[in-house]
Amino acid sequence: MIIAQISDMHIQEDRRLYKGRFDAAGNLETCITQLNALKPDLLLATGDLVNRAGPAKYAFLRELLAACEIPVYLMPGNHDDRGLMREFFPKHNYLFTENDRLHYKIECDGLNIFMLDSSIPSGDEGNIGADQLAWLENQLALSPEKPAIIALHHPPFATGTRYIDNFFCADGPELRQLVARHPNVLRVISGHLHRNIQVNYAHTIGSVCPSTAVTFGLAIAPKTPFFYSHEPPGYHLHLWQPGKPIITHTVLLPPAEIANGAYPRHHEIRESP
Ligand SMILES: [Fe+2]
Ligand SMILES: [Fe+2]
Repeated sequence: MIIAQISDMHIQEDRRLYKGRFDAAGNLETCITQLNALKPDLLLATGDLVNRAGPAKYAFLRELLAACEIPVYLMPGNHDDRGLMREFFPKHNYLFTENDRLHYKIECDGLNIFMLDSSIPSGDEGNIGADQLAWLENQLALSPEKPAIIALHHPPFATGTRYIDNFFCADGPELRQLVARHPNVLRVISGHLHRNIQVNYAHTIGSVCPSTAVTFGLAIAPKTPFFYSHEPPGYHLHLWQPGKPIITHTVLLPPAEIANGAYPRHHEIRESP
């Protein structure tokens, strides 16, 4: 089974460049072209689907995602709006629960994926909240032997990056304690940082998927200011087989100027390493 994860697409209306420089829409198109060739089992989009929510942005995102031949599961980030997500993606039945927050379970053959909603309408920081944590605890207890992945937008752990750790998931420690009680959790995956990192998290691994729109600059030294980087954006592919560890590959997107056509798609590379 291959689970693709994209994050922080930051789509805007009318192909407007992200921060005037970065082709977020073009990058997502390249990503979808690659995924349509690879044909993973499903695609998780872990928040910041658009850049500062608005109807025209979700309309354009819907247009872009229409090209995707893989089942797509959406989750909100701090830039998203739950109401607009429901309005513009009415066929995504999982968005329509009795809860205001958009958490849900994806039941795969032999694996559960728990999608959490860490967004809060009032700010860029996040939290999971007692209700979602209780729901997750109950769900994990229902199938203690079944492997599980937990996904949310805000990393529920420190990233060592000051500008993101200021907008952190407030109850990350509570989630860590919950995960520690459930050895069937294989991975906790997230976005928001616009960089690719891995951390120890309870008995498992916490990871952050890079953004498809733009990579934030490496700012792990204490006084490094925030900046946008020209490192390539990318996405994750999580490979899972029953009884085996999850293997996560990071796929970097080609530079924008050769994104459409000139870059060899992975299925066309036939040489031995
Ligand atoms: Fe983002
Ligand atoms: Fe974010």
